[in-house]
Amino acid sequence: MDPLVAAIDQGTSSTRFLVFNAKTAELISHHQVEINQSFPKEGWVEEDPREIMQSVHECIERTCEKLCKLNIDVSNIKAVGVTNQRETTLVWDKDTGEPLYNAIVWLDLRTQSTVERLINKAPGRNKNHLRHKTGLPISTYFSAVKLRWLLDNVDEVHEAFLSQRAMFGTVDSWIIWCLTGGKNGGVHCTDVSNASRTMLFNIHTMDWDPELCRYFDIPMEILPSVRSSSEIYGWMKSGSLAGVPISGCLGDQSAALVGQMCFNEGQAKNTYGTGCFLLRNTGTKPVISDHGLLTTVAYKLGKDEPACYALEGSVAIAGAVVRWLKDNMGMVQSSSEIEKLAAAAGTSYGCYFVPAFSGLYAPYWEPSARGIICGLTQFTNRNHLAFAALEAVCFQTREILDAMNQDSGVPLTQLKVDGGMTSNRLLMQLQADILCIPVVRPTMSETTALGVAMAAGAAEGVGVWSLSPGQLPHVTSERYEPQINSEESEYRFARWKKAVQKAMNWET
Ligand code: G3P
Repeated sequence: MDPLVAAIDQGTSSTRFLVFNAKTAELISHHQVEINQSFPKEGWVEEDPREIMQSVHECIERTCEKLCKLNIDVSNIKAVGVTNQRETTLVWDKDTGEPLYNAIVWLDLRTQSTVERLINKAPGRNKNHLRHKTGLPISTYFSAVKLRWLLDNVDEVHEAFLSQRAMFGTVDSWIIWCLTGGKNGGVHCTDVSNASRTMLFNIHTMDWDPELCRYFDIPMEILPSVRSSSEIYGWMKSGSLAGVPISGCLGDQSAALVGQMCFNEGQAKNTYGTGCFLLRNTGTKPVISDHGLLTTVAYKLGKDEPACYALEGSVAIAGAVVRWLKDNMGMVQSSSEIEKLAAAAGTSYGCYFVPAFSGLYAPYWEPSARGIICGLTQFTNRNHLAFAALEAVCFQTREILDAMNQDSGVPLTQLKVDGGMTSNRLLMQLQADILCIPVVRPTMSETTALGVAMAAGAAEGVGVWSLSPGQLPHVTSERYEPQINSEESEYRFARWKKAVQKAMNWET
């Protein structure tokens, strides 16, 4: 039997465990568990770290049972990779192994006033004051301000820090620490792609930056060690996979870039999850954006390999708008029903929906923006609203693509896409129409998991997956060509932009 490699994909909305054939990249088996989010106050978004770990264990064990039913011996799994929602911030007690507060999710807005204060005191009130080191604007999105909030507002976190029991990590660190033994010798580490989203990491020196830590008043001793994205960090301590090395770690958007085989400068992908993230590989040199995009570390596939960077356009709300229509508005029973409703309308009938629930990310970086629905008439019904919600995801991607094209000077001629929402064919067609370029979707949509499985399988000491250009797996795809003319597309996009202005100035 060919060797197998597994991936833990811990996203904002769900956890998955997937097993791939390392020779053919075929997905052999998987299991998925939804994750609850809580909204304790307006703008706050939390998840329970214990529930996250339970879901990881459950997904691993259920998948192993499924493999047994297929008569596949789990000992064929040679490595495990971890990919995760980025920026989400946790602090736990290294002695008890218990989290000291809920995970503060990347979408959370509780630090908005801290961010405004930091921007106000920055020279020239410049939100890009730290961009030369971090590649990022000062924003509620990144981990540093969330960690600062935890140290300032949660007594248990503060006390654990004073008695040297506190450990900080993003979700990858928490998972790897727990799986490698937790309080009994767990490995406290992260990879460069996740570290680059904290605002404490210098993307040039590839290490935690003392000056940035001083700026946010973050004690460096609570930070994990920073490793490459492909090396053995430790071994699974218990369960059906005890003894298997954990040898891949990538933030989910980086993992999708790898899974789409975007290893060359200029190659790009867009992933539609809770949010939507367009990354373009810029090679071994960081490129600083003039158009509101982030500079991020894409991956470093081995201790001695060079780091690769990407320009990133981050959209906070994509799949989350469908979840909002389902959970908050009760408009549908399941997310997949949205496509049917939108198809029944075939148009938004002039209705525009800007889902700025967590402010607006790229290219605006405006935390005070709020969601609006405009252009309503008595004729508007829920089908039009469903269409407008899907169109919003496409318009936001168009804004990012325009910024990316302006930054690089070389327009993308097609867009590679992946993620849960790409099974929505109407969305894919709308996206091609609004971008005026073809959209290409792999038929195996678990690109994020595939990317980190490749990183784990290729690690030194594992060596069951080759990342050499000639030996990359062949992935079949489906292509959506634009079907409307560019004038119509531009007209709709111009109206969307007006709606965005209203979302940004909704109070005036
Ligand atoms: O930066 C946040 C991102 O990593 C979350 O990804 O897939 O949960 O939308 P996703």
